[in-house]
Amino acid sequence: MSNTKAQVFLDINRTIAPISPLLFGGFAEHMGRCVYEGIYDPESPHADANGLRKDVMEALRDQSYTVIRYPGGNFLSGYNWLDGVGPKEGRPRRRELAWQSIETNQFGTNEFMRFCAEINTAPMLGVNMGAGDVQSACALVEYCNAPQGTYWSDLRASHGFAKPHNVRYWCVGNEMDGPWQIGHLDAAAYGNKAMEAAKLMKWLDPAIKTVLCGSSNDRMPTYPEWDRTTLEIAWEQMDYLSIHYYAGNQANDTASYLASAVSFERFVDTLEGTLRYVKARQRSKHDVHLSWDEWQVWYKGDPVQGNWTEAPHLAEEIYNLEDALVVAQWLNVFLRKSQVLKIACVAQIVNVISWLHTRKDGLLKHPSYYVFKLVSNFARGEALDVLVKAPQVETRQYDAVPVLDVSASYNAETQQGAIFLVNRSLTESAPTDIVWQDGKTVQVDKAWQLSGSDPKEANLWESPNRIVAKAISTPSVEAGRATITLPPLSFTVLTTRIA
Ligand code: AHR
Repeated sequence: MSNTKAQVFLDINRTIAPISPLLFGGFAEHMGRCVYEGIYDPESPHADANGLRKDVMEALRDQSYTVIRYPGGNFLSGYNWLDGVGPKEGRPRRRELAWQSIETNQFGTNEFMRFCAEINTAPMLGVNMGAGDVQSACALVEYCNAPQGTYWSDLRASHGFAKPHNVRYWCVGNEMDGPWQIGHLDAAAYGNKAMEAAKLMKWLDPAIKTVLCGSSNDRMPTYPEWDRTTLEIAWEQMDYLSIHYYAGNQANDTASYLASAVSFERFVDTLEGTLRYVKARQRSKHDVHLSWDEWQVWYKGDPVQGNWTEAPHLAEEIYNLEDALVVAQWLNVFLRKSQVLKIACVAQIVNVISWLHTRKDGLLKHPSYYVFKLVSNFARGEALDVLVKAPQVETRQYDAVPVLDVSASYNAETQQGAIFLVNRSLTESAPTDIVWQDGKTVQVDKAWQLSGSDPKEANLWESPNRIVAKAISTPSVEAGRATITLPPLSFTVLTTRIA
């Protein structure tokens, strides 16, 4: 890497698109200890009167989630939603096939609605397109959204919820391209089933927005043909195409891992191209956007099968500094691709592949928890088209990449902005000039940084605060220029306002 200073050029008039608030969403699945012992744990000293973990909800509120997707995931494709409503003592215990666990059904749709209200977030529900059928999907929409006076809405009322839940976002299945999926279908069969389901769901409630299952990742042999085929069949009935992606450092090649944003952007670019192609081919006026409704780091090899036990420990990854820097880049990509990316849900919000872990009496926050919290709280308004001129670092997987990964936002209403900067170098600081080109007098209000010298450093129960975001001194801005030195392996957030 050369010694040249990095330069980040911003202009509040050079925008990409409004940042959809739904980019800061989460995902909660009946898998491992996400629901049981994570969200819902009547046995915990932290449980409220409904069995919801108060400490977990407080941590989630701090992260300002705008939408939570539920109940799965692979779980969805074997789930009968009727098992999870009505008096708890009558709900069946079942062998749950996706994660080979015992499902007690003590938490279901209505408990999830109560949880969403508690943390002030919107629900996003899935309908089962694997073992489930179109009729059951319609019944759930009617149960949730119809005013009283019909069989399913009266059933909801009899369960204690007189008013409709008014669920707006609906996933039409989950990862139906994957042979691991219960009831997996080929693209044409799924496209047709999803199209019919969405059509009838929208007949029941025209206000809902539907999400078509796209490719489970960019390594699927059917990618991106699956996306094209299903979109061509179901285009007019769908509002979003779902994409999923899990990243990892399997090769223990940290330099490449810290350039993961390259893969994320390629994935979005390909699917944005597919959306444009299908729209043109259909001669359609309708738009479909992307919903990245499962994203996270996941590779450390924890078990994923529960051996027919309740709330087994599954996929409880311990995330470290390098994982947090990959998460920061992911969020940068969300802003840089905000013209097409309108929903994103991190998988998952607690315990399972999550930066938040529970014990009966406590909570552990991994480094990436703080990264998400900063971005979800400060990225507002429009994403800016940032020009970055930076020295390059060499990587085995992606060749040379700029040492900095950057995104920025500006909210014209409040005249406040935010800049999010990752220094992906393992060893070198990056002296950086930030230049505002729009001629406005800007001031940096606050600055936070998360960094460390060892990419593998993590927060553990016995030392929970090794890697946290800390307030740092703010650089002064003179003649539209601020200078800051970004340490290696760091994520820095600057909030700004027009002086
Ligand atoms: O989030 C864990 C699992 O990953 C989900 O159930 C599935 O959709 C994906 O493969």
